[in-house]
Amino acid sequence: MKKTVLSGIRSTGNLHLGNYLGALKNFTEMQHDYRCYFFIADYHSLTTHPDPAILHPNVHGVLAEYLAAGLDPEVATIYIQSDVPQIAELYLLLNMHAYIGELERTASFKEKVRKQAENVNAGLLTYPVLMAADILIHRADFVPVGKDQEQHLEMTRKFAKRFNNLYKVDYFPESQPFEAKKETVKIPGLDGSGKMGKSEGNGIYLIDTDEVIRKKVMRAVTDSGPTAPNSPVSEGVQNIFTIMRYVSEPETLKFFEEQYAACTIRYGELKKQLAEDIIRTVAPIRERINDIYKNTAYLARVTKMGAERAQESANRTVAEVREIMGIKRFF
Ligand code: TRP
Repeated sequence: MKKTVLSGIRSTGNLHLGNYLGALKNFTEMQHDYRCYFFIADYHSLTTHPDPAILHPNVHGVLAEYLAAGLDPEVATIYIQSDVPQIAELYLLLNMHAYIGELERTASFKEKVRKQAENVNAGLLTYPVLMAADILIHRADFVPVGKDQEQHLEMTRKFAKRFNNLYKVDYFPESQPFEAKKETVKIPGLDGSGKMGKSEGNGIYLIDTDEVIRKKVMRAVTDSGPTAPNSPVSEGVQNIFTIMRYVSEPETLKFFEEQYAACTIRYGELKKQLAEDIIRTVAPIRERINDIYKNTAYLARVTKMGAERAQESANRTVAEVREIMGIKRFF
């Protein structure tokens, strides 16, 4: 039997090149080796009270991007969280064994209390319980998580163990962080420091037009150029070379590295080349995103199929958990 991997996707935020060459590459490989569930966490987004008018377009956009980037609805189960109301029932049941104290001590909750002091709602407090319900509804073995979600996964294990102990069952697994076989590719940003992220100007988005990509790359941080052979490479220039390694032909990278070593490099040319090579990677995906976004009949089919498959597994779990907790029918 294949092990189960589950990943929740935020319902806001566009994918950038770093996501695509990093986590998304892992996801698309993973699909074939594991029983995969990927879902868009729209219930979770309600904890910050987004405008209902933008919530749906956000989910629509995120779904189109992930499909265009390679998630295959025939292979993996791809669904929208709110299409599987069994998750809400499991959340209710798990809440009975989640203690206020531990929820209040969660790092993400404390951060929200600071950031949105005017809206410290119960949904925020129980965010980790909802996430545990997402994971435990399919009794997932593995969850790919970034640093910021590690504590939530730890709490999921705590809730699972507590449930098993309380009811003297061996029902929920202790879901582990998913360790990719290969190290996840880390794409740096264009601002001379750190990873590609959401901060303005540092990232290339999969929906960026060719023109926008050219502009962003031409603005990338460099330095005043090498002055002596083998002079150390500044972070900005190093980042450009790093991105090149993933989007350009090996000869292209070699050509510019040699020019750098010989102190004859022109950063303008380097950037022009990098921009074209990024476009070669991004443009076909952008077209796919736009096609999929418009194809609402296809998206309806995909989400219906995903919801049906997810519900099958979710119904089983909720029925068993009800039984274990003593919620039974009298006739
Ligand atoms: N909280 C996660 C995030 O902000 C999204 C998420 C919701 C999730 N439910 C999940 C991730 C279950 C993994 C498993 O990124």
